Amino acid sequence: MKMRRLGPDGPTVSVIGLGGMLLSITGRPPSDQAMRVIRMALDRGITLFDTSDAYCLDEHDMGHNEQVLARGLEGHRNRVTLVSTVGLRRPGGAWTVDSDPEYLTESVHRSLKNQAVECLDVVNLYSPDRRVPYEESLGALARLKEQGKIRYIGICNADLSLIRRAETVTPIQVIQNRWNPQHREIEREGVLAHCVETGKALMGYAPFGGTLGAPTLTTLGKLSDQARRRRLSPYQLVLSWMTNKAPVTFITPGARRPESVEDSSGAGSVDFDSDAVRAVENTLPAP
Ligand SMILES: NC(=O)c1ccc[n+]([C@@H]2O[C@H](COP(=O)([O-])OP(=O)(O)OC[C@H]3O[C@@H](n4cnc5c(N)ncnc54)[C@H](OP(=O)(O)O)[C@@H]3O)[C@@H](O)[C@H]2O)c1
Repeated sequence: MKMRRLGPDGPTVSVIGLGGMLLSITGRPPSDQAMRVIRMALDRGITLFDTSDAYCLDEHDMGHNEQVLARGLEGHRNRVTLVSTVGLRRPGGAWTVDSDPEYLTESVHRSLKNQAVECLDVVNLYSPDRRVPYEESLGALARLKEQGKIRYIGICNADLSLIRRAETVTPIQVIQNRWNPQHREIEREGVLAHCVETGKALMGYAPFGGTLGAPTLTTLGKLSDQARRRRLSPYQLVLSWMTNKAPVTFITPGARRPESVEDSSGAGSVDFDSDAVRAVENTLPAP
């Protein structure tokens, strides 16, 4: 498993991580299966885990994913990094944005309890909230960082102008945006280039287009032919493309089955030169 630095001065973590969301939302596996998913990730050298207090069924279940990860990672917590997204609520199971400074502060304190740690590794703000200036939301996280409750701050779903606004408030370590063969905005709109230039980590989420996109990945263009030629699964091909596209990328596929994690982790040791990266891109829809 290849390792690299998560942001300009962050910890060194595996290029392939585990996205925790599917272990906790509707359709989640039984808890013994969730434990096997996490165990597989650890066994295969994964040290980067994506979580959120909002990965759960509804408002009564907040923190489910952090608790599941805390249990599955017991005894290994010192050698793994958790990236926790804040700024979401789950009323009746819906997803709603809340970046109110008070709510963010409460969320971070709850996450410390859920994860059973003194300081959260990385906290990402999910998105701006129309009701609150973005700078005030990030200011709340910056204060928590000063208080030693957060080590690094990142932002999700950010374009270049949002990144610039965030940076007026606090140093930004991680940008976490959607990135997959059918959604390549980060390449087209300069976010990936910005990360390369500044050393920020680019964490790509939904690399297969989510639970709906994943089964159709094999039908996409000539991706499967190319994967066969390289003796990789189509999923490994996509992940290898992303982790070799730039030296700042980290990909966190979600999984409910340990077999998925086993397969995806295999991409973490694949080296592609720029010709191989281009060859994969030639099989994909235009960015
Ligand atoms: N911060 C944010 O804004 C944000 C937003 C969305 C998601 N996320 C994070 O990003 C993670 C990834 O996104 P996602 O889970 O929505 O979608 P995804 O990773 O694109 O797709 C997940 C699906 O891919 C399947 N899969 C994974 N690896 C596979 C493999 N090697 N072979 C075959 N199938 C494979 C899984 O199957 P099985 O379930 O059958 O194992 C699952 O159905 C989430 O879990 C979450 O942690 C963050």
